[in-house]
Amino acid sequence: MNALEKKIALSFKVKNALFTGSGTTALYLSFLYLKRLGKNKILIPSMVCPQITCAAIKAGCEVIFCDVNLKNYTLDFKSLIEIYKKQKIDCIVLVHIYGHFCDEKIIDFAKKHSIFLLEDCAQTYKVNKKCDLSILSFGHTKFLENRQWGGGIVSNKLSLNFLKKENKKLPLKENFLQKYDEYRHKYYSLDKNSPKYYENLKNLLLEHTFFFKSKENPLIFKRLKELDKICKNRKKNLKIYESILKHKFIKKPILSKDCIPWRYTFRLLNNREFILEELRKANIDCSSWYIPNHLIFSRQNLKNAELLNKEIVNLWLNISTKKIRQNCFFMLQLLNSLNC
Ligand SMILES: Cc1ncc(COP(=O)(O)O)c(C=O)c1O
Repeated sequence: MNALEKKIALSFKVKNALFTGSGTTALYLSFLYLKRLGKNKILIPSMVCPQITCAAIKAGCEVIFCDVNLKNYTLDFKSLIEIYKKQKIDCIVLVHIYGHFCDEKIIDFAKKHSIFLLEDCAQTYKVNKKCDLSILSFGHTKFLENRQWGGGIVSNKLSLNFLKKENKKLPLKENFLQKYDEYRHKYYSLDKNSPKYYENLKNLLLEHTFFFKSKENPLIFKRLKELDKICKNRKKNLKIYESILKHKFIKKPILSKDCIPWRYTFRLLNNREFILEELRKANIDCSSWYIPNHLIFSRQNLKNAELLNKEIVNLWLNISTKKIRQNCFFMLQLLNSLNC
């Protein structure tokens, strides 16, 4: 391990670490490793960042989508069992989406049935050592975002030698920001009303999923020193949203006490598009991520993910307390003005 990898291993209290070009690259290398072991049936919760699915497809794996729960929007245990009864699962991607921790029952289940656990900690920064591999992201919007981005793979159990070798074979990151801007431009130009919307989105996503070799990144040393402070601040800001945003249309997630959130994410049961539009007009950062992956990449019905697709709202946690309070009161005022 180089100095940065040693620092990452120490920060996340794990034995082995590999610094990668991005979180997506970390996922891709992990899927290549699984493929080499003949474990290519990968279960992914549908409501996640599509780069996870793209990395699995590009590594030549078969993707199985699973529904999410309505409690905290992570992988739904019951849906997982239903799938397991019908088909083989080699690996579960345990995505702590929005920083919400997945149900520990899934980990016990995977252990019992010898299913590989690939943990995706891109949106939180706590690694569960029971997982086989865990991936990190230091990229755009993440806790430790920095100009050079980057990602990581950590493990307490496995040697990362194969992944290191594969990492070296990847190309260097070139014109990445330009490619990223191109992608964003094309993404926002897609016609959402076209019957081919999901097909076009799938093609665009696959075309713009890149993997590259890691380079030195001195910025992360500095960011890692701030990790505790950043996590504490996010937890504090979450409490502010929770205490102010109370309305009959707002359904909060049920979160574990140790949750280190990425956004303040909740369900808005009515008028979501109108509220999002008004928030944006008032320059308040918000999003409705994520589009369920099964809609983009396969043709199934996963009812919770589809419901959440119409209800999820994300508000930013890395802003001042004052701004959070102002934004909350603005949103409550909007909701109260709806009169329904
Ligand atoms: C849950 C999750 N996993 C993986 C990634 C990919 O990370 P990166 O942006 O560093 O490639 C993202 C990116 O947004 C993500 O949200």
